[in-house]
Amino acid sequence: MDPYIREHNIERNDIANAGTVASLTKRALKQRGLSREFIKQVTIGVYEAEINVVIHSYGGTANVAIDDDFVEITFQDKGPGIENIEQALQAGYSTASSYAIENGFGAGMGLPNIQAVSDEMDLQSSENGTYLRIKFNIKEDSYEH
Ligand SMILES: Nc1ncnc2c1ncn2[C@@H]1O[C@H](COP(=O)(O)OP(=O)(O)OP(=O)(O)O)[C@@H](O)[C@H]1O
Ligand SMILES: [Mg+2]
Repeated sequence: MDPYIREHNIERNDIANAGTVASLTKRALKQRGLSREFIKQVTIGVYEAEINVVIHSYGGTANVAIDDDFVEITFQDKGPGIENIEQALQAGYSTASSYAIENGFGAGMGLPNIQAVSDEMDLQSSENGTYLRIKFNIKEDSYEH
């Protein structure tokens, strides 16, 4: 199948549209015949990463690439960055704003969940922004049968 490549902008604090990248990616994966279980893992990862850009950053982009062998999504935002990545990866750690908490976020489970569902995760951050790449390998049993 032809590779699927999309770039999306993600706006700061735009909770109303958060989830758009996840749902468009989900649709593309369905069209390629991937299994519900595989799609669920990818959707969880993309959704959590997308929400993080919305609620913790000044805005950014998501690049989605789907090929025969993998799904890879890279998120790049404009800061303020993560001071201590090791700490941020710990379950329950959160600096979510009261606005984010009022909207149901801030359990400190997004990054641990992304790590759990993905095959590869690369997280880099400075005060200029955060880069997150997550990858899911597509195997024979990733398809609906
Ligand atoms: N893109 C980002 N920019 C800046 N800080 C971030 C970013 N993503 C995560 N963080 C930091 O890492 C912490 C942990 O993120 P994680 O997604 O695990 O939890 P959360 O977003 O606070 O809560 P939850 O995901 O459960 O709603 C965040 O509280 C925030 O301090
Ligand atoms: Mg989160």
